[in-house]
Amino acid sequence: MKKLLTPIKIGNIELRNRVIMAPLTRNRSNREGVPNDLMREYYEQRSSVGLIISEATNISPMGVGYINTPGIWTNQQIEGWKPITDAVHSKGGKIFLQLWHTGRSSHPDFHNGKPTVSASAINSGGRVMTYDGIKDKETPKELDIKEIKDTIEDYAKAAKNAIEAGFDGVEIHGANGYLIDQFICSGSNQRIDEYGGSIENRSRFGLEVVEAVCAAIGNDRTAIRLSPSGTFNGMIDETPVETFSHFVKELNNFNLAYLHIMEPYAPPGKTYIPQDLYLQDREVTKYFRKIYNGALLTNSGFSVEEAEEYLQHNISDMVAFGKLLIANPDLVKRIEKNAELNTWDVKTFYKGGANGYIDYPFLDD
Ligand code: PHB
Repeated sequence: MKKLLTPIKIGNIELRNRVIMAPLTRNRSNREGVPNDLMREYYEQRSSVGLIISEATNISPMGVGYINTPGIWTNQQIEGWKPITDAVHSKGGKIFLQLWHTGRSSHPDFHNGKPTVSASAINSGGRVMTYDGIKDKETPKELDIKEIKDTIEDYAKAAKNAIEAGFDGVEIHGANGYLIDQFICSGSNQRIDEYGGSIENRSRFGLEVVEAVCAAIGNDRTAIRLSPSGTFNGMIDETPVETFSHFVKELNNFNLAYLHIMEPYAPPGKTYIPQDLYLQDREVTKYFRKIYNGALLTNSGFSVEEAEEYLQHNISDMVAFGKLLIANPDLVKRIEKNAELNTWDVKTFYKGGANGYIDYPFLDD
């Protein structure tokens, strides 16, 4: 039997297999960030995986950076998620919520004209899709110490809200050039206080978020995702291997549910060109496996065969699939039966509506 199909315990929960659904932005919420029945159907269809990680979900109004993405700071949002977690649980599945603050990758339009925020006032460049069309990113405002503490509190509150909404735990989004990553990497953090400068200082914000979320809902229900070789969203670090080695070593102190490591991320249609400084594609998980003591989840463009190989060679404990799970709601069954896989349609990833979302065929269709 494939190791992908064997159970694993993370924290205090038992996952029925090691096929994990990656967090996937799908832009199907309303403007208020309230999840709906279409999303319930989508997640329910995919509940046979070991664990669903929800799409990235905004922890606060300032965190919002993309249209029609869900939130977890209002009562309406919490209520909107409940039918989703109920549906997944009624099918015997497990689901974590991904906690997201986009930082400088946002646009003032998402917060009534208030500037976006980040570690430092450095514009990442690039553009944002707002409700009024595509706009250039603007230079963020540097968070002051009180705002940093308040933002950490927002993560903790959002984690509590996630538990109230019925999630089994949370994954802190520390990857892909969003707020936590903006603090970690030297290209976006030029602070001269205790949150910038040295690797220790640049790691402080993310680690304080981890600490606060653990205190709010328990270490066994807390996880984090990192992209140590990511350059998406204009990210750059002078010593990425050293920087993330420090961060990951510190994570060993928390006994988290898992650490989710991404191989270099290439958004649809974009070519990713890593630099010499960076660990290359398929070097990242192997490297951090040696440093991290807990359960490890890997991701980014894995085929079923390669995922199985990673588990057999003990490079990773679980593998998250994105595009394969978009196109194959019954991916687990297809793996069991060695069945053919549906292919995905990139055009419908972010388009809204049911098409390309809940209408991919199941094996028996
Ligand atoms: C996106 O919506 O493009 C997106 C969201 C979260 C990520 C990466 C990309 O981590």
